[in-house]
Amino acid sequence: MLAIEADALRRTYTSRTGWPKSRRTESEAVRGVTFDVAPGELFGLLGPNGAGKTTTIKMLNTLLLPTSGTARVFGHDVARDPVAVRRRIGYVFGGDRGLYDRLSALDNLRYFAELYGVPARAQKRRITELLDLVGLLGREKEKVEGYSRGMRQRLHIARGLLHRPDVLFLDEPSIGVDPVAARDLRRTVADLAATGTTVLLTTHYMAEADELCDRIAVIAGGRIRALGTPDSLKSLVRERDVLEIEAYGVDEERLDRLRRVPGVRGVAAEDRGALQTVTVQTGRGAAELHGPVLAALQGVRLGRVTSREPSLEDAYIAIVEGADAATVTGTATSAGTHTGTSAGTVGGGAGAVEGTASQGAAV
Ligand SMILES: Nc1ncnc2c1ncn2[C@@H]1O[C@H](COP(=O)(O)OP(=O)(O)O)[C@@H](O)[C@H]1O
Ligand SMILES: [Mg+2]
Repeated sequence: MLAIEADALRRTYTSRTGWPKSRRTESEAVRGVTFDVAPGELFGLLGPNGAGKTTTIKMLNTLLLPTSGTARVFGHDVARDPVAVRRRIGYVFGGDRGLYDRLSALDNLRYFAELYGVPARAQKRRITELLDLVGLLGREKEKVEGYSRGMRQRLHIARGLLHRPDVLFLDEPSIGVDPVAARDLRRTVADLAATGTTVLLTTHYMAEADELCDRIAVIAGGRIRALGTPDSLKSLVRERDVLEIEAYGVDEERLDRLRRVPGVRGVAAEDRGALQTVTVQTGRGAAELHGPVLAALQGVRLGRVTSREPSLEDAYIAIVEGADAATVTGTATSAGTHTGTSAGTVGGGAGAVEGTASQGAAV
């Protein structure tokens, strides 16, 4: 039996805005998401802010009802049998809330063990086991207020595991955690998966997903844009070449102009103070594109221009940018072409590809 089955999941948020005449506005957060997770698999939902990751998780863990579509956790339907689902899942949301600062880690875990109905006899052993798993054994008597962000996050994971769930949902566990603590956290998640727990993790860090996940679904604009093993996603950009351009004051209009240069496959800009780094992906060996690319930036003060091999981050940018471009042009044809192409390449690698059919539809 599959651990998680999501089938054409959709969620629309409705809100009222405006005064004195209020209008109903609808926003489609998740627009038809389909994927499966096998028992014991560590599955990643990777995507930028607002992609629909949290909304998807909240439908799977019964906190939100799907607008349409179905989801099952170990065969139990999330809408029809939420109680059975809840018994088998645990979840941890990124951020600081949900722990008692004035209490020690041990007392926090005792409190939640009681709340989750862990039998009194089993509590002590379970808590010690979990403290060990998350690397907090020896620090459990300290008050949580003195804990670092990373330690808190690991304590959250222990809390989420108290009732021995078969599936753990981790929503952006490493948000706001420093790099060293994030590495410890990744180790905890990897150890957890090694014990046989199915993990569904969301993140917007490509490197984190790559290191941890058996398979990754890249989600943007409420749709799955690519799905496969990390290697198969990387194969997306293997045929590409990346131009990195230092620039000062590139605006959105210029970036759009860059995106329209024939042969350019993806454009991203990152601000570092006054300096921006513009990353342009082109077909491999497209040295002849350097001219047109620089021409599109005419009038902008430029710094260093370098050409390099594509990285994982570029694969992610390529997938998400493909999604953006589809939204910008707003035609179903271009959406189909974009996602079709990228997903096709993913399929060329080792991974399975899903969700292509729904992507070409209705943009
Ligand atoms: N309670 C809500 N009401 C209205 N819109 C929401 C609500 N929660 C999320 N959204 C919108 O739905 C989209 C997806 O959000 P979310 O699932 O939180 O994305 P992610 O977790 O990937 O950052 C965003 O555009 C967000 O603004
Ligand atoms: Mg989120």
